[in-house]
Amino acid sequence: MRRKFIAGNWKMHNGPAATKEFLNKFAAELKASPETGKNIESGAEEIAFFVPAVSLLTAVQESSGMPVIIGAENCHWELKGAFTGETSVPMITEIGATHTLVGHSERRHIFRETDEELNKKMHTAVDGTLIAVLCVGETLEEREAGKAFDVIKRQFGEGLKGFDAATAAEKIIIAYEPVWAIGTGKTASVDDAEEVCRFIRGLAKETFGAETAEKLIILYGGSVKPENTAGIMAQPDIDGVLVGGASLKPEVFIEIVKNAI
Ligand code: PGA
Repeated sequence: MRRKFIAGNWKMHNGPAATKEFLNKFAAELKASPETGKNIESGAEEIAFFVPAVSLLTAVQESSGMPVIIGAENCHWELKGAFTGETSVPMITEIGATHTLVGHSERRHIFRETDEELNKKMHTAVDGTLIAVLCVGETLEEREAGKAFDVIKRQFGEGLKGFDAATAAEKIIIAYEPVWAIGTGKTASVDDAEEVCRFIRGLAKETFGAETAEKLIILYGGSVKPENTAGIMAQPDIDGVLVGGASLKPEVFIEIVKNAI
């Protein structure tokens, strides 16, 4: 049985003060939901928050003793150097964060990050002991042109170049986020989401073999909210969700966590 992975992606929201306030409120929500605590303890479910770089330290400190994972939203592929404004993997691990997103669609489309750069980030993150969540997803234009599967195949293949099966199974998570469903209120239908996630598991099987494909955690993201979580999570190839807007309120996000199991 693959574990469920329920993650918030805060994007450019929540500085240190708001992070502290959020996590204190979320701790109270968790306390009020002992069922969730049991699911986490048994390893059936993981909860993660991907937070802005300036809030990582506060998030790690404030969540100490709480069963939540703290991750970065982005990292650089070099370990150090003249890269003004960037955050390195050693900086992220020094703070105590354990995960990072790589290639979120906003990084690909607004900041023009390429598959080649994202592959370098994946390797630096994993070599630096982080678990890396590679985000893939097609634009509306690509979907309408019938190219969705080609795009996913390219992003998966290029992003994971050079990884072996054991590393892929243990250190990598894939998030399928159709660009047209992010922040738009349009969720992919559960059938469409499952179809692509099944396709991704198939790619994993071709690339790394059946055992790794079975272990690989695959998330869906794009306008996930409490009301659509259970339907998405009922799909056999979807193991979790990556939540943007609906992860910003503790009382909303806890409902997603509860509906995911
Ligand atoms: P959304 O964002 O839930 O606000 O659509 C998801 C994401 O970008 O990770």
